[in-house]
Amino acid sequence: MEEFLSSLRRLEESGVAAIADATTEEEIERVRIEYVGRKAPLNQLLRSVRDLPQEERPRAGAEANRVKQRLLELLDARAAEVSAAAVPEAAELDPTLPGRERWRGARHPCTLVTEEVCGIFRELGFSRARGPEAETTWYNFTALNTPLDHPAADEQDTFYLSDETVLRTHTSPVQARVMEKHQPPVRIVVPGVVYRRDPYDASHAPAFEQIEGLAVDEGIDFVDFKAAISYFVHRFFGEETRTRFRPSFFPFTEPSAEVDVSCALCAGEGCSACKGTGWIEIMGAGMVDPAVFDNVGYDSERYTGFAFGMGVGRIAMLRYAIPDIRLLYDSDVRFLSQFGRA
Ligand code: DAH
Repeated sequence: MEEFLSSLRRLEESGVAAIADATTEEEIERVRIEYVGRKAPLNQLLRSVRDLPQEERPRAGAEANRVKQRLLELLDARAAEVSAAAVPEAAELDPTLPGRERWRGARHPCTLVTEEVCGIFRELGFSRARGPEAETTWYNFTALNTPLDHPAADEQDTFYLSDETVLRTHTSPVQARVMEKHQPPVRIVVPGVVYRRDPYDASHAPAFEQIEGLAVDEGIDFVDFKAAISYFVHRFFGEETRTRFRPSFFPFTEPSAEVDVSCALCAGEGCSACKGTGWIEIMGAGMVDPAVFDNVGYDSERYTGFAFGMGVGRIAMLRYAIPDIRLLYDSDVRFLSQFGRA
């Protein structure tokens, strides 16, 4: 027993000294393995307790455990000291340096516009739908009454992934996809990215966002169409903004219209933003062509509806007086972070 206790004391002393001498995390680890690791002499001593006479075992075991516990605590304390010492001395710190500002994300102007537009249409009972960006030519063109050899298809003859798959050139194909799945009444808005063979200049981008809209039911007429669009324009651009419907052509609407709003910059007087006309175009729209209803299996004698599609970037440019669409897509955080800070 005496021999046991004196070996224990020697181990304790040399362990305490070794811990105090350790100055790096690696040294502390080495001491830990040497003194309290699985193969350390201390563990052999602990195992040898059972060879002692019965009445001596409790005290021997307790002593050995105390030593092990003490070494473990000292090791942890030393490790904490060493890692604290790794921080520079007070003299090396300059508390007058301005702190680093926490990075805060901001929502993109196009996201803000999309949320707001969908929110306004939501009040009118429109829910949100989505569709694929890699679209079949059937949905992108044919179902929308646009034969592939039609000049309107040529204009959008763009990024083909295979003979029958194209990066969608507009969000309108989602109209057909939704109508195939759901019977009227249908009221949807469809935000999404579209792809065109367009230049990258102040007013064009080859990939941009659109919001499509579609309402189909019995008895929807042109007055409902104008009322819904005018309501949207007033809500989004302000009560003083006027709306103009200009005759146009789209294969999937009849009649078709382009919708203009009075120029906010010159209040309709004519300026460079509106090219002197006092009006700015915001969307294509119209009454859904009966041929589209036939293509998706709707009874075109029974149902009517209206549809529209607008470019989100263009609307964001109007809303925030952004002069060049490329500012929206160049990902310059100094520019973009001005808008949607939470
Ligand atoms: N899809 C057309 C485009 O991208 C925009 C459009 C026009 C959508 C008329 C419509 C519509 O829903 O009725 O140019």
